[in-house]
Amino acid sequence: MRFHVTTFGCQMNVADSDWLTRSLVSMGWEPAPENEADVFILNTCSVREKPELKVYSLLGRIADRPPRNPDAFVAVGGCVAQQIGEAFWNRFPMVRLVFGSDGVAAAPQALAKIADNPGLRISLLDFTETYPERSPAWPDDALPGRAFVNIMQGCDNFCAYCIVPYVRGRQKSRSSAAVLDECRALAGRGVREITLLGQNVNSYGLDNQSDGTSFAALLRRVAEVEGVRRIRFTTSHPKDLADEVIELFGTLDNLCPSLHLPVQSGSDAVLARMGRKYDRAAYLELVDKLRRARPDIALSTDLITGFPGETEEDFAATLSLLDAVGFESAFSFMYCDRPGTAARRLEPKVPEDVKAERLARLQVRINEHKDRALAARVGRTEEIFVEGPSRIARGEVPSWRGRDRAGRTVNFEYPGKDDLAWTFQQVEMVVAKKHSLWGKAVRHG
Ligand code: SAM
Ligand code: SF4
Ligand code: F3S
Repeated sequence: MRFHVTTFGCQMNVADSDWLTRSLVSMGWEPAPENEADVFILNTCSVREKPELKVYSLLGRIADRPPRNPDAFVAVGGCVAQQIGEAFWNRFPMVRLVFGSDGVAAAPQALAKIADNPGLRISLLDFTETYPERSPAWPDDALPGRAFVNIMQGCDNFCAYCIVPYVRGRQKSRSSAAVLDECRALAGRGVREITLLGQNVNSYGLDNQSDGTSFAALLRRVAEVEGVRRIRFTTSHPKDLADEVIELFGTLDNLCPSLHLPVQSGSDAVLARMGRKYDRAAYLELVDKLRRARPDIALSTDLITGFPGETEEDFAATLSLLDAVGFESAFSFMYCDRPGTAARRLEPKVPEDVKAERLARLQVRINEHKDRALAARVGRTEEIFVEGPSRIARGEVPSWRGRDRAGRTVNFEYPGKDDLAWTFQQVEMVVAKKHSLWGKAVRHG
C-alpha cells in the first residue's frame, strides 16, 4: 500500500508519526506523496481551533478528489481523533480508522486489517493504564543524528485553557529501563542528540505508574549513555522544575544550555485563573537559579494573550516579564475556548480584536529580544551539529545548516566537498539574521 502521513501539532505527534511511518515501512508499505497515496493518515492536534479546522479542510480536500483507487481510505489519529471519535465516520465516510495517542501502538495492525477488509472500520480510542510500549521498528539504514524519546504520556495539570489532559489522558511515566534502552539503542546507531519528550517532563516519575525514578535521576542516567553528545528535554512546567534538575544544567556537560519554560502570562491574577500554580515571583526565582547554574542558558517560553478577564494592566505585566527575563524566543497565541475546559466558562471574554492587537504588540517585543540575543552571538565560535545542506547560498561556497548547543539555527559556509550532515563543526558567527545566524567554518590544523 502507498501511504501519506500528515502531521499537525507538537513534537509528540511528530515522534508518533515517525514511529508509525517506520512501522508501516517495515510491513512493506511505501510512503508516497499525497496525490499518489491510497491510505491517508492524519495525525491531528486540537490544542487550538485553527489546527482542528485544518483537519476538516484536509479531509474535505481528500474526499473531493476523484478516486485514484476505489479502496483508498483515511485514518485520523491524535488529539482531534480522541476528541471527535467515531463521529468522523458519519461526516467523512472515507475515514475507516480513528486512533488516539494510546492507540498508536496498535494502528499499524489495524491499518493492515482495514486494507484487507473493505468495509471494516476500527476505533482505537481507549486510554491504557500504563505507558503503551511499542517495538522501535528501526530501519536497516542509518538513522539521522538526532532523535526524540518519549518518557511519558498524558498530563494531569488541567490548566484552565488546555484541552490536552482530555485528549491525551492521565499522566503515565514510561519505565526508566525502557527509556534508557531506547537511548542506548539510538546512540548505538549513531544518534548523537536526544530530546526527551513529554507534556510535563518535570513531573516524570510523580504518577502512580512510575518506577520511582525522578526526572533528575533519569536525566543523569541518559547523560551517561555512551555517544550522546547533546541532551534536550521538553516541555517543562515551572511548578515542577526541581532544584536538582536546575543544578544539572551546571554539572552535565552534554545537557544543552537551553530551556523552554512556558510562563503563559506575567500577571499573577491571570496565572491564578489559569490554574498554573506559580506566580510571577516564583517564575523569576527559577530564572535566577537557572542563570546561576548556567549563565549562558537560552530561555524560551509560551505566552497567551486575551485569557478571559485579562486587562490592559495584566497584559502590561506580561510585556514587563518578557523584558525582565529576556527570553530568546517565544511562541505566542491568542486565547481560544476549547471544548470541556474550565476557561470556556470563564467571563468576561476578551474581544477578538483586543486579543489580536495584544498579540501583535507582544510579537514586536519578542522579536526585539530575539534580534538582541542573536546579535550577541556574533564573533563567537561555537560547536554546530550539522543537519544538512543550507537553503541559503552566498556565492559559490557550499553552505550548511545546523544548530548550536542552545538550539539556535546557524547557516555557515564551508569551502570543501565533504558531506557534513550529522557531523560537529566549529563555526564562527559572522552575521545575525532575522531568525538565525550566518557563520563560517573554522579550519583546524
Ligand atoms: N505542556 C506544555 C505546557 O505546559 O506548556 C505545552 C502545552 S500546549 C501543547 C502548547 C501551548 O499551547 C501552551 O503552552 C499554551 O501556550 C498554548 N495553548 C494551550 N491551550 C490554548 C488555548 N486554549 N488557547 C490558546 N493557546 C493555548
Ligand atoms: Fe496543557 Fe497545562 Fe498540561 Fe501543558 S501542563 S499540557 S498547558 S494542561
Ligand atoms: Fe496538539 Fe495534542 Fe500535542 S492537542 S499540541 S497534538 S498533545
